[in-house]
Amino acid sequence: MPVALRTQVGIVGAGPAGLLLSHLLALAGIESVVVENRSRAYCEARQRAGLLEAGTVELLRSAGVGKRMDAEGIEHDGIYLQFLGERHHLDFRALTGGRWVTIYAQTEIVKDLIAARLAAGGAIEFSCSDVAVSDVTSDRPVLSYADSSGETHVVSCDVIAGCDGFHGICRPLIPGLSVSERTYPYAWLGILADAAPSTDELIYSRHADGFALYSMRSHDVSRLYLQVAPDESVEAWPDERIWAELQKRFAVEGWSVSEGPITDKSVTAMRSFVAAPMQHGRLFLAGDAAHIVPPTGAKGLNLAAFDVTVLTDALAAWYSGGDATLLAGYSQACLRRVWRAQHFSWWMTSMLHRFSDASDFDLRRQIAELDMVVSSPSAAKLLADNYVGLPLT
Ligand code: FAD
Ligand code: DHB
Repeated sequence: MPVALRTQVGIVGAGPAGLLLSHLLALAGIESVVVENRSRAYCEARQRAGLLEAGTVELLRSAGVGKRMDAEGIEHDGIYLQFLGERHHLDFRALTGGRWVTIYAQTEIVKDLIAARLAAGGAIEFSCSDVAVSDVTSDRPVLSYADSSGETHVVSCDVIAGCDGFHGICRPLIPGLSVSERTYPYAWLGILADAAPSTDELIYSRHADGFALYSMRSHDVSRLYLQVAPDESVEAWPDERIWAELQKRFAVEGWSVSEGPITDKSVTAMRSFVAAPMQHGRLFLAGDAAHIVPPTGAKGLNLAAFDVTVLTDALAAWYSGGDATLLAGYSQACLRRVWRAQHFSWWMTSMLHRFSDASDFDLRRQIAELDMVVSSPSAAKLLADNYVGLPLT
């Protein structure tokens, strides 16, 4: 016999979207159950984002999960843009009237949120199988799964949140979904290295051989990315080749990338994707389940945080007085910010990457655009405002 359970919000996925939603709902007095098909260790180790908008930092702080981020995160006042062998600084604090970004890894946010939910007695089921959602157009949608010991659970919910990422099961449950999509003819090879970064802020470098990004996770750990072919295999990139390519793409007189043991290597495809609407009946999508941006603008996790803030406010209004107006407008409220981030991420991506079929005209236009960003205060401000993120409200 399956175990029958009851909750208010059934959440599929324990990534940043699902965990933060569960935490924010608990603060609003709303109960939830999070169901995840991977193990806790896997979720806590999955290497992804590292850069948080100021608004995301403020949200995590105000939700009481910012303690370790405040102690261990690194605030950056700007970025460097490099092209034609020259490095230019953009000062975000000056350009945006005091806004900044923070380096704090997604792995750490996930750990902090899991710890906070478990300490508060929250329900997170890891290592589940046969996760399924049904009856989303009824007023009792159902979330079912087999737990790690194989026992089947059937959870009767008021609402289900599909926070199950791009390859999840929830998005296909929305009939008549409209999809806007673009794939890019390249991928990113990302590495983590035990090496103290030789830069104080991130470097976005456009190089004739391809884009490179110098990021970090701490004062001792560097995170670096190289533009590679879309079907590139990690095996084609032994450590020596990676370091040589990084030294070449970041080269400036009298400076070098500091090297160290590489502890993680992976290739990520680049895609822009928006599914609309983000809701159907009592099912609401949030985060990568509904939209993907190419990573160049560092927007994915920040967008996921925005979606779940909107959803929490809408659910709190609905539970407190039965007002469904915000819930009905959920998709529209999220999509405006999603499209702003789509445009920004596409802009950063196309301005900085090497296109294999680029004509001489394309290359010169790309340089002219970068030159405009570093020499025109209004162009620099446009990039800075978008990079640090528009206000969450
Ligand atoms: P996910 O993190 O994908 O979480 C979804 C969860 O659902 C996963 O735990 C998955 O296991 C689970 N799941 C899937 N299917 C099921 C199922 N059937 N049943 C149960 N559970 C399921 N964003 C930024 O903001 N800043 C950055 O600097 C940045 N850098 C990035 C760098 C790289 C290389 C990459 C790849 C991404 C980067 N991003 C960045 C994007 C960011 O990592 C994602 O947008 C973010 O992970 C989205 O969170 P999510 O919770 O929506 O989805
Ligand atoms: C990181 C990733 C990004 O895509 C980006 O634009 C900035 C930082 C990172 O992983 O640190």
